[in-house]
Amino acid sequence: MLHADHPLTDANTLGLPCVAERYAAPATLDALREALALARRHDWPLTVLGGGSNLILPARLPGLVLQPAMAQWWLEERDDGIRVHAEAAVEWHALVMALAKRGLWGAENLALIPGHCGAAPIQNIGAYGVELGDLLEAVHLVYLDDGREAVLSASDCAFGYRDSVFKGALSGRMVITRLVLRVSTEPRPRLGYGDLAGRLDPAPTALEVAEAVCAIRREKLPDPATLGNAGSFFKNPLVDGEHARRLLAEHPDLPHFPQPDGRVKLAAGWLIDRCGLKGWRRGHFGVHDRQALVLVHFGGGSTEELLGFAGEVAARVRERFGVVLEREPRRAG
Ligand code: EPU
Repeated sequence: MLHADHPLTDANTLGLPCVAERYAAPATLDALREALALARRHDWPLTVLGGGSNLILPARLPGLVLQPAMAQWWLEERDDGIRVHAEAAVEWHALVMALAKRGLWGAENLALIPGHCGAAPIQNIGAYGVELGDLLEAVHLVYLDDGREAVLSASDCAFGYRDSVFKGALSGRMVITRLVLRVSTEPRPRLGYGDLAGRLDPAPTALEVAEAVCAIRREKLPDPATLGNAGSFFKNPLVDGEHARRLLAEHPDLPHFPQPDGRVKLAAGWLIDRCGLKGWRRGHFGVHDRQALVLVHFGGGSTEELLGFAGEVAARVRERFGVVLEREPRRAG
């Protein structure tokens, strides 16, 4: 069922005003394939929407916006362990909490990340020392051009830091319909990041870890239900070793993470913060006052204004530190 001139302002966590020329939310695989066939027949440009939590929408999206609505998940016991199957529209955070409550380990460090399961592999969601790629076994998808179904293994997904094949070669070419994740009843807490260990007993349950992660996130990150945002607006930049050494000589407290390839990952939030921009507001947008990596929308702003504001933040960091910041949320349309 197609809706014309469908408002998407509430369907993106930045709260940017947007209208879809046509919109459909197929609740079955067959309905999804039908919608894709219709778009092909009419040559409509297609945009696939998940939870809208990592997306910058334009004022109008022409063609067809598809928001998969298949939202079942289930467990499968295999000889070599337990798998979770989660369809595209399952809320990621709800799934993480349901698994943690059952004592299933694997996803607990990724609690409270907003968005749908179907979008999780695109940017390879990551937090507190764990990335989706660490527990993902397979991704089911449908190709847009011919409606063909395929199953990709984790290695086909080419996961990297906030990166995957879905941002590269497969960008705009498929709809993710289901994830298959590996989980375990064996306790395996990963508490190495930040002050996570300090908040927990030495042998926590999966649920305790998930709840500690939620508590840390709530302290720093704005709730999109009350303040528009898309989480981190920039990726943590990778600079070469020489550049990192020069910066560290001048700023010994700069948080930095050496990578296996010799490059060094820097904390973009620290760089923005040290430019004096934390809490800076101009017009309808601002830098969050508790986490400078998050840009917030106070309401009434436009996509152009947001991009201009973000450009100004990046320009200040470049001037002060010579570091180029790359945007993290993707632009649609
Ligand atoms: N920092 C500051 N000032 C700030 C923000 C950060 O000095 O305003 C410093 C912190 O004190 C810390 C360092 O920068 O020493 C890193 O900060 P934090 O641990 O908060 O993590 P982050 O690098 O800012 C990344 C992810 C988050 C994820 C956290 C925890 C990216 C782009 N962001 O943020 O992911 O939750 O680590 O793992 O990699 C998201 O992608 O939307 C997101 C929220």
